[in-house]
Amino acid sequence: MKILRIRHGCFTSLFSVLFVTIAGCSGGSGAAEENTPPPPPAAFGPNFSEIQSNIFTPTCATSGCHIGAGAPQGLRLDDANSYALLVGVASSEVPSVLRVAANDPANSYLIRKLEGTASVGAQMPLNAAALEQAVINILRQWITDGAIDDRATSADPVRVTSLSPIPGSELNAAPDDIVAMFDRELDVSTVNANTFVLEASGGDTTFGDGNETQITAAAITTPGTTPMSATFDLTGVALADDTYRVRLLGSGASLILDIDANALDGEFSGSFPSGDGAAGGDFEANFALTTAAMNPTLGDIQANVFSPSCAGCHSGPTSSSLPSGMDLSSADASFTSLVGVSSLQQPAISRVAAFDPDNSYLVQKIEGTAATGVRMPAGLPALDQAVIDNIRQWITDGANR
Ligand code: HEC
Repeated sequence: MKILRIRHGCFTSLFSVLFVTIAGCSGGSGAAEENTPPPPPAAFGPNFSEIQSNIFTPTCATSGCHIGAGAPQGLRLDDANSYALLVGVASSEVPSVLRVAANDPANSYLIRKLEGTASVGAQMPLNAAALEQAVINILRQWITDGAIDDRATSADPVRVTSLSPIPGSELNAAPDDIVAMFDRELDVSTVNANTFVLEASGGDTTFGDGNETQITAAAITTPGTTPMSATFDLTGVALADDTYRVRLLGSGASLILDIDANALDGEFSGSFPSGDGAAGGDFEANFALTTAAMNPTLGDIQANVFSPSCAGCHSGPTSSSLPSGMDLSSADASFTSLVGVSSLQQPAISRVAAFDPDNSYLVQKIEGTAATGVRMPAGLPALDQAVIDNIRQWITDGANR
């Protein structure tokens, strides 16, 4: 069952007008006596650490009461012992009822003792004014929310389990998005442009030297159910060739929290999951984008030149008659028709001589220097020299399929 957690901030504001005045437990004698002055007014949320410090420690774990070996019913309510002796533990007075039954305040003996409805013994705190109902309601809310120990979770903070693009990768094409996966559900309100950051190095591959630019996402999203990932959407975002740094913040003013309000354990040494075992710390990983340096492939040439400008005439099937017999209708057909295949017009040279663009008849035909026939593409404008240079580069690189 999913538990709807009330975020601390909301709850604090809800109770900000609430002044919690607490009278101390009386001494072990049970005699009414003047108590130490009440602690200063407080406002606090329905989480265990604040309940401990605002109720149990000042009101119950006082000298002669719920502290130490002689604590009544063995119930110690000091910071070190209270959680373990309350949650899921049977009441000594009424063993059929748990002291705190997670999610069920009405059947939690602690609440009955505080509200004065327990069937055994006196209302707590003993010999002192009852807690205000508004204060008891904070306890009720904490129980309704699952009676979580918010102190313990800091030993098990949310971590990053994967990132796409892979840290350290060198990409030939800009990614559509950046996706981080986590090992716990996120507080989705904490995943935003302040905490999920993408920076370009400014061309020097280094960060922190002031010339970085921050990339604005088309959107930063988390899944509607079981939010254990976050997506930095790059749709429509132009990324220049550069080194990029992905940052997921676990420290500072804005940081990623999990559903139990643990800060991201972000430190990343190169292997997943992230973290050093303690909440807090930023996740940082780089990737490089190098599209311009990418040499043309036959697939690129096929898509950009042969298919649109040549295949209409050089359509196949393969034969000894031109133009159809030199089949340029697909990358595979072009490879078979061109590389190491003698020209029909000038049989002494290959249509494409690998590593040797100058002695490739194809190049001569598209540059208009061939001894026979017209410049290709016949009947169409000559190809741009930049396009021809791409084809030359492919040949220089070995004319690979
Ligand atoms: C309008 C039809 C047409 C188009 C479009 C066309 N060609 Fe040709 N191609 C021909 C004809 C006809 C010949 C033979 C006569 C000639 O070379 O003038 C030929 C010959 C060739 C030859 C010589 C083949 C050999 O074995 O000697 C090459 C190489 C060639 N074309 C490459 C291309 C390339 C590359 C393109 C696209 C950029 C292209 N052609 C576009 C019609 C065309």
